[in-house]
Amino acid sequence: MNFMEKEKPVGVFDSGIGGLTVVKRITSVLPMENIIYFGDTARVPYGSKSNSTVIEYSLQNAKFLIGKNVKAIVVACNTASSIAMEELRKQFDVPIIGMIEPGTRHAVSTTKNKRVGVIGTRATISNKAYSKEIKKLDAEVEIMEKACPLFVPLAEEGWTKHKATYAAAEDYLKELREFEIDTLVLGCTHYPILADVISEVMGNGVTLIDSGVASAVAVKRELDRIDLNTNSHSPGNQTFYVSDIPLKFKEIAELFLGKPITDVYKVELETLSV
Ligand code: DGL
Repeated sequence: MNFMEKEKPVGVFDSGIGGLTVVKRITSVLPMENIIYFGDTARVPYGSKSNSTVIEYSLQNAKFLIGKNVKAIVVACNTASSIAMEELRKQFDVPIIGMIEPGTRHAVSTTKNKRVGVIGTRATISNKAYSKEIKKLDAEVEIMEKACPLFVPLAEEGWTKHKATYAAAEDYLKELREFEIDTLVLGCTHYPILADVISEVMGNGVTLIDSGVASAVAVKRELDRIDLNTNSHSPGNQTFYVSDIPLKFKEIAELFLGKPITDVYKVELETLSV
């Protein structure tokens, strides 16, 4: 593989800031890689939008990253991963890594009692992306999926331990507890922020799968496989593009990224096209 190709950045996109939880994981697995992030903060949430809209926006986001000369694209949004992967892979030549396949593999290899729960946005759950993928790997696994839409604003509010978060978790997770799952996939970028509450409500016997962790490992595996990882020995740069800089952006972004955020640029929506 030629040197120039290896030194290109890895592109990451999400519907907004949630994908920063995935960037955090990628940088711990691949600290030397440069990352270009695009968060579609002007059009978030994707989790309540139709499939055709999510596909259209995802193609635009990927095209933006291709314009930044990325060597691979990480779809750091479970909703976009559950709906747009096929179309993205059809339209772009670079490797495209989503959240569903890696998260599924991790869940199937973790469960002992073959009862897995999946939580995500309405769109992710209604598309049954995780169930379909889990069944492909192990048809014996029984799956219960549950949309938990309120978890997104609760995470963005930074209510990681708030009583409202406990109340929402008790309500959303009741059926999953009764179904006696031993493994729960956090199938939304925001949910790792609420992992402590989710874990407490589910109890000790349930292992949480952070699909961002699984996806970061999959990115490394893919770069290794195609010999496209950087040769650099110094920590990579991260550059962030967003389609809007909403109120409290910095505060929320830093909660998700786990460190101060710099190098943020606004992209005009009109410049995004398929
Ligand atoms: N990033 C989305 C996901 O992981 C959550 C936010 C949204 O609905 O756009 O599904």
